[in-house]
Amino acid sequence: MTARFPAQPELAGHPYFQFRNNVLYAEDVPLDHLAERLGTPLYVYSRAALKAAWQAYHSAVGQRPVLVCYGMKANSNLAVLKEFARLGAGFDIVSGGELKRALAVGADPARIVFSGVGKQAWEMRDALAAGVKCFNVESEAELRLLSQVAQDMGARAPVSLRVNPDVDAQTHPYISTGLKENKFGIAIESALAVYRSAQALPALEIVGVDCHIGSQLTEIGPYLDALDKLLDLIDRLAQAGIAIRHLDLGGGLGIRYADETPPSPRALLDPVFERLQARGLGHLHLVLEPGRSLVGNAGVLLTTVQYLKHAEARNFAIVDAAMNDLLRPALYDAFHGVRPVHPRAGEATLYDIVGPVCESADWLARQRKLAIEAGDLLAVESAGAYSMAMASNYNTRPRAAEVMVDGDQYYVVRRRETLDDLLRGESTL
Ligand code: LLP
Repeated sequence: MTARFPAQPELAGHPYFQFRNNVLYAEDVPLDHLAERLGTPLYVYSRAALKAAWQAYHSAVGQRPVLVCYGMKANSNLAVLKEFARLGAGFDIVSGGELKRALAVGADPARIVFSGVGKQAWEMRDALAAGVKCFNVESEAELRLLSQVAQDMGARAPVSLRVNPDVDAQTHPYISTGLKENKFGIAIESALAVYRSAQALPALEIVGVDCHIGSQLTEIGPYLDALDKLLDLIDRLAQAGIAIRHLDLGGGLGIRYADETPPSPRALLDPVFERLQARGLGHLHLVLEPGRSLVGNAGVLLTTVQYLKHAEARNFAIVDAAMNDLLRPALYDAFHGVRPVHPRAGEATLYDIVGPVCESADWLARQRKLAIEAGDLLAVESAGAYSMAMASNYNTRPRAAEVMVDGDQYYVVRRRETLDDLLRGESTL
């Protein structure tokens, strides 16, 4: 990997994370201060970075009828959610738990869309009672259950069908969702028939068409291919007397982890609007569900080097963060930049950065050229999305604390878990 980056590339979270006098800062707060006061591993988010990422969508949308629903699975810390709610975001939720979080920060239910392939009856009930904007439904069986639940409540459920347009998003197979072999959505060839079934059910109201083709997309081609197929479907639905109010294009815009050059929201949306205009559908409301592109580069994970271990084939830097804190490298072979918070002069050595968990998959970065010593503080970049959100307690490791920096202030937005937290709720016979 290091060979691909002969020069130090700019920090992925630049300019919200940058070096000043040889110390890495989040906005105006030196990261070593945070580590001293709060310990490691520690997630650090930049409020200004969240705002800037939101602003990129906001300005690309302009005056057009687009609802941007933050795909909160990427990072559902209440402080992050509150920030987006304040900025005017809607939310894309995938569970009753995420609904509770959104409501806890005062989100407007009319700006919440409920996605997910396995919604349970209690989750449908909670979402109906709250008054969400739309259920993105993924199968006929789910349509029937939703209609039943709504009928029992004397309500009508607003629905979109999540259509699988069968396009190749050209991303990691685990995060590609728009192909025929994926579990997600309804095959586009069957969509018209399933819309007809939805129409025949008593307590549903058809409001939209939905898709989500994958995550960490770095090209707009797959989006536009999907868009064309969905617009054809919307035409066929209109001919069948089924009017659609909104088109949900899902999330998926990528971020720079290493040397990717993902399109900006504007680079994605301008051609989308052009196609809608060209097809006489300029009035159609759009929904977007971005997750990663709103938060991914707004966070780093701080970790301390515990030991250096020089083995025959490799050098290891054993750090105090692990796969339970950041699963992406183990699960997707994902690349995250790693920087010493206080870079040292001296000879750099190739290291694998690994955690203390008893798994060979417990690594955070491989073959990085670093000048480091035990006790040094490292920042793992691009850790704002799918990082703390996917953390676990494997090896009975308490989950890290999270802190949000705002200018020269910082706020602990999730305290570090204690060992007592971990044992609470368990009992012996
Ligand atoms: N909408 C739906 C229906 C989704 O399934 C997802 C993500 C999103 C929106 C947000 O997508 P984004 O804009 O963040 O790409 N854990 C993986 C990513 C899994 C994405 C799952 N779905 C990772 O760490 O790369």
